Amino acid sequence: MEIFLDSSDINEIKLLNKANLVDGITTNPSLLSKSGNDFKNVLKDICKEVSGPVSAEVTATDLPGMLKEAEILKKIAKNIIIKVPLTWNGLQACEILSKKKTKVNVTLCFSPTQALLAAKAGASYISPFIGRLDDIGENGVELIQEIKSIYKNYKNINTKILAASIRSVEHVIKVAKIGADVATIPTKIFKELYKHSLTDKGLESFLSDWKKSGMQI
Ligand code: E4P
Repeated sequence: MEIFLDSSDINEIKLLNKANLVDGITTNPSLLSKSGNDFKNVLKDICKEVSGPVSAEVTATDLPGMLKEAEILKKIAKNIIIKVPLTWNGLQACEILSKKKTKVNVTLCFSPTQALLAAKAGASYISPFIGRLDDIGENGVELIQEIKSIYKNYKNINTKILAASIRSVEHVIKVAKIGADVATIPTKIFKELYKHSLTDKGLESFLSDWKKSGMQI
């Protein structure tokens, strides 16, 4: 499974990209507005740091506006992926852009039929928001499973399932078990992925025994 960071924080991105385990980035208007800097510069810096796909979302809701913004966003860097919301206009924008070989991430997906339509519109990525479904008492992980089963039935569907709105390590494990193509993970959760108290404890005792032995490598 590919791992994207769900972040617009360039310092955190640089820090977590040190082991080259970050395959891409997703941003959204809320994350970009939090950065407090010019969004184009933020995206430029992110695209320089991470060579994989970097999603940048349109904010227009009408079709001509979405297409116009997509052209502006595309020019920021070669690895920009255009993110459009799963609305009627978003689906049309996705179809038009995909036909022109522009990669599109269709976001704010909350149902299997939305995912099916996005795939038919040529989306490169579909972003089901699992945490926000959990928030309203539904099962977000189940949606990933449903989309996976549907997409598997059709050889001509090449849309990647990008599990989004991830809130916990358990979410990451569950979507990886299902076989989501990508999980986009907040930086706080990413840091929890490699931590285990027994790793720290084990290392401590290995090093203490080694020190006592007086040996050196
Ligand atoms: C995905 O692309 C979105 O940016 C993100 O996962 C939304 O997550 P949230 O529900 O935590 O805001």
